[in-house]
Amino acid sequence: MAGEKTVETTGLLGWIDRRFPLTSLFKEHMSEYYAPKNFNFWYFFGSLALLVLVIQIVTGIFLVMSYKPDAKLAFESVEYIMREVPWGWLIRYMHSTGASMFFVVVYLHMLRGLFYGSYRKPRELVWIFGVAIFLCLMGEAFFGYLLPWGQMSYWGAQVIVNLFSAIPFIGPELSVWIRGDYVVSDATLNRFFAFHVIAIPLVLIGLVVAHIIALHEVGSNNPDGVEIKDGPKDRNGHPVDGIPFHPYYSVHDIVGVAGFLIVFAAIVFFGPEMGGYFLEYNNFIPADSLKTPPHIAPVWYFTPFYSMLRATTADFTWILAGSAVVGALAILVKSNFKGIWRLAVPVTLLVVAVLLRLIDAKFWGVVAMGGAVVILFFLPWLDHSPVKSIRYRPTWHKYLYAIFIVNFLVLGYLGTQAPNPTFNLMSQIGTVIYLAFFFLMPVWSRMGTFKPVPDRITFRPH
Ligand code: HEM
Repeated sequence: MAGEKTVETTGLLGWIDRRFPLTSLFKEHMSEYYAPKNFNFWYFFGSLALLVLVIQIVTGIFLVMSYKPDAKLAFESVEYIMREVPWGWLIRYMHSTGASMFFVVVYLHMLRGLFYGSYRKPRELVWIFGVAIFLCLMGEAFFGYLLPWGQMSYWGAQVIVNLFSAIPFIGPELSVWIRGDYVVSDATLNRFFAFHVIAIPLVLIGLVVAHIIALHEVGSNNPDGVEIKDGPKDRNGHPVDGIPFHPYYSVHDIVGVAGFLIVFAAIVFFGPEMGGYFLEYNNFIPADSLKTPPHIAPVWYFTPFYSMLRATTADFTWILAGSAVVGALAILVKSNFKGIWRLAVPVTLLVVAVLLRLIDAKFWGVVAMGGAVVILFFLPWLDHSPVKSIRYRPTWHKYLYAIFIVNFLVLGYLGTQAPNPTFNLMSQIGTVIYLAFFFLMPVWSRMGTFKPVPDRITFRPH
């Protein structure tokens, strides 16, 4: 019977249940986890992220069986996997395609959260674990990219590790400490390998488990942003706007999995390099510490952030410092900040404005790039809109989201291109738009005429 904490008493399951809460775990997280009835296309991406995680771990295990984490052998061992190991090419292309598809899926998953306000109370921790997962994923991809020891692996790692040297005082020593040498070398390869195959995956899996436990504690949001727990309940105490995750969504998600696998297989079999976006052409050339490639660009999923890094030139820090001063004055003259915050925030902004001009622009580029990700942690407290879902926001909010998305894609494109004055200016405008979207969210998110939110979810049976 639904609702009771039943355990099997007979057979193998009975034997297990008397020793391990298998049935009750299954009920809690699957057959008696009530999810809103109105999930749409955007709700496929959580389960797809889980699928890609499994693909990456399984193919990764097989790659490690033949890969050699040694600067003299690494490149050739990858070629050996591609040419000699039975099905090695498939395993490798699944892993490299999986890396890019992980980001496609996770970016869409995050976008869904943004659209429907899934980061808002009571799901702040679900979101925070999510952003931590995103950070780990970036680390995982960065460490993994060095392993094939091609030209882009080598010079990409060189550029990114060098960024740390821009940190005042400790920077130069810090970058040597990270590399384990004065340049990217065998020592660097070994430690990146250790992080890629064990350290980060462990943290990633732990975070994914925490992400789902937190979600199941508070229950899923939905495209209407209405809490089904607050709505009517049936006689067993289950929300009438909810349906058991299993079998309804476990089966429903198979549609997403099938669609995803078609796209995934098409890429793996017909275009694993994806025109140089998934596997960069320069990375088929062995690493050469004496020959810098003319144009070094990270893989596409990092390029929006890479653009922000490159955009932060000395001239640009004037604009940022100016914005910080204007922000400080605006808060002093007219703001809702109370008590100590009313003074502390403007003073901090003024100090930042001075530091922006005192410290090298390269350092601020690193701050802008890192800040662009870190700001996501604060989203639950930046959004002051009276409604969660985009469906009930003023229409112009939708245009803002559209601008944000297009801007992110343009930044991504610019990051793949060699710099020139026009592109630099565009990256600077793009960086301002990206940062302003978040920093000004407490202001714009409560402006406009909101539509009435229904008491119950909107659901049309199909
Ligand atoms: C390995 C990466 C990830 C995995 C495996 C994963 C898995 C999941 C799953 C299975 C769900 C429930 C199904 C769904 O709502 O789609 C979910 C929900 C959610 N995830 Fe993730 N996730 C990942 C990364 C992220 C990231 C990077 C963020 C945000 C920064 C995030 C934010 C959320 C939020 C807010 C929800 C609740 C959505 C709602 O109820 O509307 N997740 N995640």
